[in-house]
Amino acid sequence: MEKIVSLCKRRGFVFPSSEIYGGIGGFWDFGPLGVLMKNNIKRLWWKAIVEERENIFGLDTTVIHHPKVWEASGHLASFTDPLRECKSCHKRFRADKLTGENCPECGGELTEVKQFNLMFETYVGPAKQTANKAYLRPETCQGIFINFANVVDCMRPKLPFGIAQIGKGFRNEITTGDFIFRDREFEMMELEFFVRPGEDEKWHDYWIKERLKWHQKMGIKKENLRLFEHPKESLAHYSKRTVDIEYKFPFGWAELEGIANRTDFDLKNHSKFSGKDLSFQDENGEKFYPFVIEPSLGVERMMLALLLDAYREEKNNKVTRVILSLNPKVSPIKVAVFPLLANKPDLVKLARRIYEDLREDFMVAWDDRGNIGKRYFSQDEIGTPWCVTVDFQSLKDNTVTVRDRDTTKQERMRIDKLKEFFENKLK
Ligand code: GAP
Repeated sequence: MEKIVSLCKRRGFVFPSSEIYGGIGGFWDFGPLGVLMKNNIKRLWWKAIVEERENIFGLDTTVIHHPKVWEASGHLASFTDPLRECKSCHKRFRADKLTGENCPECGGELTEVKQFNLMFETYVGPAKQTANKAYLRPETCQGIFINFANVVDCMRPKLPFGIAQIGKGFRNEITTGDFIFRDREFEMMELEFFVRPGEDEKWHDYWIKERLKWHQKMGIKKENLRLFEHPKESLAHYSKRTVDIEYKFPFGWAELEGIANRTDFDLKNHSKFSGKDLSFQDENGEKFYPFVIEPSLGVERMMLALLLDAYREEKNNKVTRVILSLNPKVSPIKVAVFPLLANKPDLVKLARRIYEDLREDFMVAWDDRGNIGKRYFSQDEIGTPWCVTVDFQSLKDNTVTVRDRDTTKQERMRIDKLKEFFENKLK
């Protein structure tokens, strides 16, 4: 983990938020490479969930909803973690994560367990009064439930169908840590898949399999993934059954994605609290509340799993090569272009032409610093799958070398074939 944290800082993936002021716990900023990687993760999820499926629609709702939403969803009453505070040093801890009866920091006496609501509060409008109190959403799916009738009216879908959303979520976690694993501000990718009651268990199993396949397609090793069946007592207030896809993080197996059967809990409650009928009428005129299967994944947590899974070191003589063997689709940079020597104008001119041409279609990097070996190593460390080098032969026959990150093999290729080559590789 330490190596990943340091690589992320050094190479511009992740910075502590507000670092010049000493940081703010549980908040992270994403640097030039981090934002590229995050966008790739979101795009690949959206493609697999929305674009490749006929019956799943996208949505983009606000972060702040009408406060009644959180009453109806049960979050005001139940979105809590058990909290104990040290009477001496006043540090606060999650009671379910404590091992002893005393403060783990100073040994002081702890208070009784209190329930702490994780929602961030704010006020809408200029008056800071209870009537204007609102919350930053702790999950994106409520925006989907409250727009259920809008989407049904516009799209006229038949069951089963889904509504998907990617967006920010906020949780005032009692304790954060493990880098970007548990944050107070993060992005979620959520699908609400509406099914006929009675068919919910079958569709739940379907989505568990689909999501597990997707994680492997993204490049995560099979042996680092497993399923965890939540025991009845640890289920969220809305869930009939939840299965987590867990990843083998350096601090142990932990939830990567949750896949819940939320039943008709949310649609029914929003109908009750809003007075609007959110039941669904099928093609035979039958009216009922559909059940919901919900795969829900955090973008940052996915990014951490991908980085950890891809990281490797290769020792050759005294030199260590650090490689991020990311799936090329996930890699921030797809191709790096180098002139063999930076002080030869003909090489630089041709390399610049190739760089500018490839940049129209791919995320491409330029590097002409130091020797070529160092440039290759520098790209390996950030997961760039291919490096193109323009050398003296290029000036004679319009070919370049393409070096592969994982094998380090180089092949000569005609310049006019490069685009097609990378396109095929990225398909
Ligand atoms: N709507 C369902 C829901 O919110 P969850 O299990 O609480 O379920 C879903 O969260 C996913 O969001 C988790 O599996 C994890 O990937 C991510 N996530 C949850 N809390 C997080 C946090 N504090 N920081 C980063 N990611 C988080």
